[in-house]
Amino acid sequence: MHYNFDEIVDRSRSDSAKWTYYDKSPLPLWVADMDFRSPEPVIRALTERVTHGVFGYGMPPLVLAETICQRMQDLYQWEVTPGQIIYVPSIVSGFNIACRTVGEPGDEVLVQTPVYPPFLTAPKFQDRVLATADLTLVPNGKTIRYEIDYDRFEAAITPKTQIFLLCNPHNPIGRGFSREEQLCLADICLRHDITICSDEIHSDLLLGGTTHIPMATLSPEIADRCITLIAPSKTFNMPGLACGIAIIQNDKLRRAYEKTMRGLTGHINIMGYTAALAAYTEGGEWLTQLLAYLTANRDFVIHYINDNLPGVTTTFPESTYLAWLDCRQTGIEGNPFQFFLTEANVALNDGQAFGSAGQGFVRLNFGCPRSILVQALDQMRDALNRI
Ligand SMILES: Cc1ncc(COP(=O)(O)O)c(C=O)c1O
Repeated sequence: MHYNFDEIVDRSRSDSAKWTYYDKSPLPLWVADMDFRSPEPVIRALTERVTHGVFGYGMPPLVLAETICQRMQDLYQWEVTPGQIIYVPSIVSGFNIACRTVGEPGDEVLVQTPVYPPFLTAPKFQDRVLATADLTLVPNGKTIRYEIDYDRFEAAITPKTQIFLLCNPHNPIGRGFSREEQLCLADICLRHDITICSDEIHSDLLLGGTTHIPMATLSPEIADRCITLIAPSKTFNMPGLACGIAIIQNDKLRRAYEKTMRGLTGHINIMGYTAALAAYTEGGEWLTQLLAYLTANRDFVIHYINDNLPGVTTTFPESTYLAWLDCRQTGIEGNPFQFFLTEANVALNDGQAFGSAGQGFVRLNFGCPRSILVQALDQMRDALNRI
């Protein structure tokens, strides 16, 4: 089946946060969902489930767990058993549970910045203390790229550091970390007896043929201290259905994680299970076409920025549908997010929400039909030209 990602689906009169949050209806290229319909098999499975008409308490379907295990085997030759899978209502709650499970109140949680804002708030929400290690920004031809400074990473560790929240592929920098990079990070964590919670929600969104390596596949020793978080939500554009997956192979850690969840996280939405199963079993064709479309959008964004947005430099996203724009040389006075919102009527994400390393940056979501992207970029170009 051919999917038409150029189609404009009117979300302005739906319950979409992306399309209804702002008063003056700017073009929304902010929150990380896409403006595309989910795969047809997902819509069909949900329709059938709705038609059944009885929406009582659900049970996690064994067939879903088996499907996830098979998927891990097929994609990464990673042996996971159904008993090692725990469902969570969302990945954000998944890493908040991880923070609360490991260590004691007052212990430290390490993250690499700039990073998806809920990584910065999770420690505080769970009575922990945030510790940050900035990634290093390096020029990369006409684009920018981030690399890991291992000395800085290790220097951020104290005897109170209990858990490292890894974002891989990383939001907002759009990189998937290589085997070597992950091995270096894991080696440091092993030496300091630190648990790793690896948020791999973007791991299926691989652009231009890049690959993903789950942290837990690097060695049994690393798997033993890993909490891996994955979900069909970003991949198949269904985050509103709230079905996330934690894979924890260490029995003691998994039991502790489940204990933290007791009485707090509630049931997974039955529609989430239905959609996840349909997406993982029948969504492959859609995903292949989506990745081609996103890769073309990514390339378009990079060329457009280089040619038309003076002073703006972007990352070259290898994964995700998020570009991270350095606006510090544009001549914009003040916050570029505010500038583009008021002067271009385009809503991006404010870089400073991603940590102080994000000051002067904005995040742009290119998971939308090309025509919306062109219109937003044209409006940004015109606003910059008026400076
Ligand atoms: C790295 C990362 N983790 C988690 C989430 C949110 O996941 P959920 O909606 O399942 O909490 C996002 C959404 O943008 C994300 O980029």
